[in-house]
Parts: sequence; structure tokens; C-alpha cells
Amino acid sequence: MFRRTILSLVLGYCLVFVSAFPQVPTSFVLVGDSTTDNTTILDSGGWGNGFCGSTNITALTPSSLAPNTPCINTAKNGATTGSFLTDGSWNVTVATVQAEIAKGRRTLVTIQFGHNDMKIAPPESMGANLTIMVNQLRALGAEPVLVTSLTRRTFFDNGTIDDLLGPWADETILISQQEHTHLLDLHAHSITYVEAIGPDAAHRLNRSPDDDTHLNENGTIVFGRMVADLMAASFPRQLPIIPNFGLTFNITHGIASY
Ligand SMILES: *[C@@H]1O[C@H](CO)[C@@H](O)[C@H](O)[C@H]1NC(C)=O
Ligand SMILES: *[C@@H]1O[C@H](CO)[C@@H](O)[C@H](O)[C@H]1NC(C)=O
Ligand SMILES: *[C@@H]1O[C@H](CO)[C@@H](O)[C@H](O)[C@H]1NC(C)=O
Ligand SMILES: *[C@@H]1O[C@H](CO)[C@@H](O)[C@H](O)[C@H]1NC(C)=O
Ligand SMILES: *[C@@H]1O[C@H](CO)[C@@H](O)[C@H](O)[C@H]1NC(C)=O
Ligand SMILES: *[C@@H]1O[C@H](CO)[C@@H](O)[C@H](O)[C@H]1NC(C)=O
Ligand SMILES: *[C@@H]1O[C@H](CO)[C@@H](O)[C@H](O)[C@H]1NC(C)=O
Repeated sequence: MFRRTILSLVLGYCLVFVSAFPQVPTSFVLVGDSTTDNTTILDSGGWGNGFCGSTNITALTPSSLAPNTPCINTAKNGATTGSFLTDGSWNVTVATVQAEIAKGRRTLVTIQFGHNDMKIAPPESMGANLTIMVNQLRALGAEPVLVTSLTRRTFFDNGTIDDLLGPWADETILISQQEHTHLLDLHAHSITYVEAIGPDAAHRLNRSPDDDTHLNENGTIVFGRMVADLMAASFPRQLPIIPNFGLTFNITHGIASY
């Protein structure tokens, strides 16, 4: 299974880079909460910087995308689907998407929620709001890509993850099936990986030692790559995602990189 995944990734990347395969100019826009967000203050920090790259010179983060690929992170700390839709954040996303589409670019929009939604309402409430987002993005001409919640790195003594986000991940999967969107199952893949590397290595990716939710620079590199690889596998040979075979090998073999 792992081997087949790697083979298809390698083939996908080779065809992108070796053949003269004409690629549609593509932009990425990210929507979500702090586990996607690109800020680096305490209690924030998600996988967005590892996916898009960050030019913050004190914490320069390499991009997972080909040079000059627009990747605009509109995720917001503390957001639920409901707050994101009503506090003006969604309007920023919509304006950003419209601008990319106006440039004639294929525009993929990742949507990942759950961490805060789970604190205020049952999964179906988030699901209804995800459906609104999906439909509005499609009406703009964009392609929504649903992403299940990045796992928290909270372990039971027996080394398995204490997974409170499961029902919200399941709801995201359900909406992707109902609405026929692409789905990146970051929740499942991140659980598999952190259980394989164990609590000590997993906690080295935390923003601060006791913050099992947010990511430091190394964490954003690891999980940004995980998202990029899931995206590349979901859209084979179509996207300007650049490979990092060493990191992909570590991720798919349960090896800690940091
Ligand atoms: C840049 O990264 C450093 C180190 O993580 C952080 O202290 C600083 O706030 C970041 N700056 C911005 C604009 O995110
Ligand atoms: C976060 O994303 C926004 C929108 O793409 C960008 O303007 C900002 O520079 C990014 N911040 C960092 C630290 O990369
Ligand atoms: C979804 O949106 C509705 C309507 O704005 C809101 O009442 C509800 O709290 C939202 N759900 C979540 C989980 O944010
Ligand atoms: C978002 O845009 C809509 C449509 O233009 C507008 O009605 C609404 O007031 C805006 N919301 C916020 C919070 O700015
Ligand atoms: C690990 O511990 C948790 C909490 O006690 C338990 O629910 C779970 O079934 C255990 N898993 C395994 C594989 O032993
Ligand atoms: C993969 O993991 C090894 C062992 O921890 C580490 O030395 C190496 O730097 C990692 N490679 C990448 C590309 O992260
Ligand atoms: C990231 O990993 C490097 C190499 O292991 C290490 O030197 C650095 O301190 C780590 N950064 C953080 C914020 O833990």
C-alpha cells in the first residue's frame, strides 16, 4: 500500500517534471482555522506555511509548490465555519478567489475546520456550513478541496492518539461525498504518522512544548508536505507541486525528520 502510494507519487512527479506536459496555471487559496493559518505567534501556526512557503526571514520555510505559484493563506486563528462565514473572513477569501480566477487561473481552495467547531456545535452544524462554502466557491468557478482536521498530538499512555476530532473528520468526509469534492484525509494520515514516530518526536513539532494543537517551523514543513503529497495524489500530474522525496519517504515510513 505504502509502496504503491510512493510509486504513484514518484510517477506523478516525474511526469510533471520530465515531460513537456502543459500545466494549467494554478493558484491555491487556503481556508481554515489556526491549524492551517500562517501566523507564528503563540497559540497559532498550522500547515499553511509548509505548503505555500513563507518568506519570513527569521523562519524561512520552503514551499511545496513550484516557484511563483500563488498560494494565499486566508485561514484565521480561532475560526469555526460559522465565524469564518460571518466575521468578514469569508469575504476576504471570496475576493481573493475572484482575483485569481480573473487572471485566468485554475483556483483550488482547501477548506479545513473542526478544531473550534467541535467546541460549539455537533458535526452536522459544521457540515451545513462546509456545504455553503463548497457551493459558493463552485459558483465563483473555483474548485473546493475538503481537508479533514490535522490531529492533535495528545496521546494515551499506550501510544495511541486520544482522537476527539474523529466525528468532525467523518462529517467532512460525508460532505465531500455528498458534494463530490476532492478530499484530503489529513486527519487519518496525521494520526498514522504521529503514532508511528511516537509522542516525543510528535511533540517536537509543537508550537510550544505543551501546545499539542499548533505547529512550529518543523511541524509546518512536515504537515505542509503531507498535505502537498495528498493533493498531488488526488490530482495526479495536474498540479505544480514539487517533490521532496526524502521528507515524503520519512512521512510514509513513519520516520521522524526532526
Ligand atoms: C517570523 O518568524 C519568527 C520565528 O518564528 C516569529 O517570531 C515572527 O513573529 C514571524 N513573523 C511573522 C510576520 O510571522
Ligand atoms: C500569510 O498569508 C498572507 C496571505 O497570503 C500573506 O500576505 C502573509 O505574508 C503571510 N504571512 C507569512 C508569515 O508568511
Ligand atoms: C454554522 O453556521 C450557522 C449559521 O451562521 C451558525 O449558527 C452555526 O453556529 C455554525 N456552526 C459552526 C460549527 O460554526
Ligand atoms: C460580506 O459580503 C456580503 C456580500 O457583499 C455583504 O453583504 C456582507 O455584509 C459582508 N460581510 C462582512 C462581515 O463584511
Ligand atoms: C489505548 O488506551 C485507550 C485509553 O485507555 C483505549 O481507549 C484504547 O483502546 C487503547 N488502545 C489500544 C490499541 O490498546
Ligand atoms: C528523514 O529522517 C532522517 C532521520 O531522522 C533525517 O536525518 C533526515 O534529515 C530526514 N529527511 C528529511 C528530508 O526530512
Ligand atoms: C527544527 O529542527 C532542527 C533540526 O533538528 C532543530 O535544530 C531546530 O531547533 C528545530 N526547530 C524547532 C523550533 O524545534
